[in-house]
Amino acid sequence: MRIAILVSGNGSNLQAIIDAVAEDQLPNIEIACVIADRNCYAIERALDAEIPMFYVERETNLSATVHEICNEEDVELIVLAGFLSILSAEFCKEWQNQIINLHPSLLPKYGGIGMYGNKVHQAVIAAQDKQSGVTVHYVTEHIDGGEIILQQPFDIPENATAEDLAKIVSELEKPLLIKALYQLSQE
Ligand code: GRF
Repeated sequence: MRIAILVSGNGSNLQAIIDAVAEDQLPNIEIACVIADRNCYAIERALDAEIPMFYVERETNLSATVHEICNEEDVELIVLAGFLSILSAEFCKEWQNQIINLHPSLLPKYGGIGMYGNKVHQAVIAAQDKQSGVTVHYVTEHIDGGEIILQQPFDIPENATAEDLAKIVSELEKPLLIKALYQLSQE
């Protein structure tokens, strides 16, 4: 299964996939390309691993450009790994059941527009929730609303801050993403 990994930031999840492929944990997966929508450290990780890398401008035809790249690279699954641009409804329909996303909460809680990164963790702390977690889900035109593939909950430690949650999430999300990719590549 040829995958495209879309990134906007540090790329620690991209690195986890690169490492899992190198260590033969994902025998049916081949990273076709990495697509970045801004200057970010993830680009360096892709270049270091000698993976074809595309930079797309954050303009109105971003989805069309990503569509073209994925078609040209024979991509079968698109992985949003910290990708911050919103893909168009048309694109999500075209690639239905072929786009997955990683979200740092137990969806459907704390999803939707504006809910990303630390904002999610701050909302969880403000609500005094006892649990949070990580979700891998399909992407549809409804932001964070697609079918859930896998979730990993965790108990929130007493007096935890948003930064503490971010650290726990960062550790839990990698194995969950790899597990989801393994599962999808076996189907
Ligand atoms: C992750 O925490 C993920 O849950 C969210 O964005 C972050 C990306 O981190 N969607 P990185 O760029 O993979 O390090």
